[in-house]
Amino acid sequence: MMTKLRYLGKALRMAAAPALAATLLAACDSGSSSSTPAAGSTVKPGSADQLALGRYLTKAADCAACHTTATGAPFAGGVELASPFGKFYGSNITPDKQHGIGKWNADQFYKALHDGVTPDRHLYPAMPYTSYRSMTRADSDAIYAYLMQQKPVAVPSKQADLKFPYNMRFGMMFWNVPFLKNSLSDASAGQSPAWLRGQYLSNALGHCAECHSPRGVFGQLDLSKPLAGAALGRVAAPNITPAGLAAVGWTAADLQTFFATGIAPQGSAYGEMFPVVHLSTQYLSKDDLAAITTYLLGDKPLPPEPVKAISADAVELDAGKRLYTAVCAGCHGFQGEGKPHVAVAMKGNSTVRNTDPHNLIVAMLDGIEAQKFPGTESLQDMPGFAGQLSDKELAQLSNFLRATWGGQAAEVTPDRIKSMRLTTAH
Ligand code: HEC
Ligand code: HEC
Ligand code: HEC
Repeated sequence: MMTKLRYLGKALRMAAAPALAATLLAACDSGSSSSTPAAGSTVKPGSADQLALGRYLTKAADCAACHTTATGAPFAGGVELASPFGKFYGSNITPDKQHGIGKWNADQFYKALHDGVTPDRHLYPAMPYTSYRSMTRADSDAIYAYLMQQKPVAVPSKQADLKFPYNMRFGMMFWNVPFLKNSLSDASAGQSPAWLRGQYLSNALGHCAECHSPRGVFGQLDLSKPLAGAALGRVAAPNITPAGLAAVGWTAADLQTFFATGIAPQGSAYGEMFPVVHLSTQYLSKDDLAAITTYLLGDKPLPPEPVKAISADAVELDAGKRLYTAVCAGCHGFQGEGKPHVAVAMKGNSTVRNTDPHNLIVAMLDGIEAQKFPGTESLQDMPGFAGQLSDKELAQLSNFLRATWGGQAAEVTPDRIKSMRLTTAH
């Protein structure tokens, strides 16, 4: 599991075959809870219900992504968030009185989530209070109650290591004035109870926009293009607006499978999306996953688009096909159909169908580390081919995949591949 995440975009960087998907969904059915804990306003403070709710909300808001390292104690902090402004670290939020938030009361906790202000400092927006601002007071209290039940850990928080002038914390007061908004904008239209619940789960808790919405030069979310996709780190966050999702073939059912299991007919979760599924969405109730999906697609979803037929240069396609057969087909199938328990399908894969070949090229160059998906599925790693294949070969492969299974123009040039090779090992 990676501990270095990328969030605030290039500007703040945070680090299947249908049969396979069906197996996973079946595995998940038994694993994940089928009901959502009672809503915040109906639980009694200090009750077991409130703790259960707090535990669930802490997962839904994915606090662990930035506050628990792969090897550290829960919520003891230390996760590194890399950015062009410098490095941020998730703080110790265990109830330790000296190093954690043990001396805080529920009001102070709410103020940190809602305003980004703690008893002694202004937080940087690497802590996504721009999203958590919409969280209800009752839900904040439940998370507070749950965190206060955790084991106190006496580890000091690592201080952010930022370049001038970003290291001037008081500057955040000025950042918050134009950029801290009471609500985020919506990419879809809806008003059903499921859509409203999905809006709350996606914005106030799951903070999807923090990665999927583009950012401006000050690291602020661009509210005019909600969920339209963002450069992020090595792997870009795709467009997940209703039009963006329909264009690459997502249906409501497949999205729910993706959030519950990390694998759908459109592909697997990788890069920064893998921890989101691994630590957060897999634990959500079926109703809540359906709500998130309704929010993403809108109350009147667009029909998923079939893969378009594309004409492309026959010589280029033939060269790409030969490379695919020699190098990739062993795992992804000769017809791009994928292999259960080995690798996802390339035919209709959302990464292959993406207008921008960025993530396709990154997957081929860098590979994807071995990942353990919810339930029983774990896929071996996908090897990187940066060392074996030339710029020309990788361009031919990209073009073959895009034109044959992606419905996308075969316009990837060797120069594009060259520009995306990592200059330093990662
Ligand atoms: C995207 C990463 C990220 C996520 C997700 C995240 N945090 Fe944070 N959090 C941070 C960072 C980074 C800091 C330190 C910010 C700074 O140095 O100004 C922080 C600071 C805090 C602080 C201030 C601690 C102190 O001692 O000042 C609290 C409280 C906190 N987070 C609670 C939470 C809770 C609760 C959640 C889930 C609801 C959460 N965070 C989710 C990144 C994150
Ligand atoms: C040893 C088996 C193996 C080989 C060989 C292989 N892959 Fe993969 N590939 C995988 C696995 C496994 C995944 C999913 C990894 C995950 O998400 O954990 C994957 C994922 C991908 C993805 C990301 C899409 C998604 O939804 O996960 C792309 C694109 C891709 N492979 C393209 C290729 C291409 C092109 C080649 C040949 C150059 C290739 N792969 C060779 C195993 C392989
Ligand atoms: C830490 C950054 C991050 C967060 C937070 C995040 N995502 Fe993602 N997401 C990504 C990246 C990077 C990808 C591309 C890799 C992949 O397809 O798995 C992605 C892929 C996806 C995809 C697949 C899109 C496609 O066409 O292939 C969907 C759907 C998605 N995210 C939905 C969500 C939702 C809903 C949330 C909030 C609950 C969310 N994401 C939160 C980074 C993030």
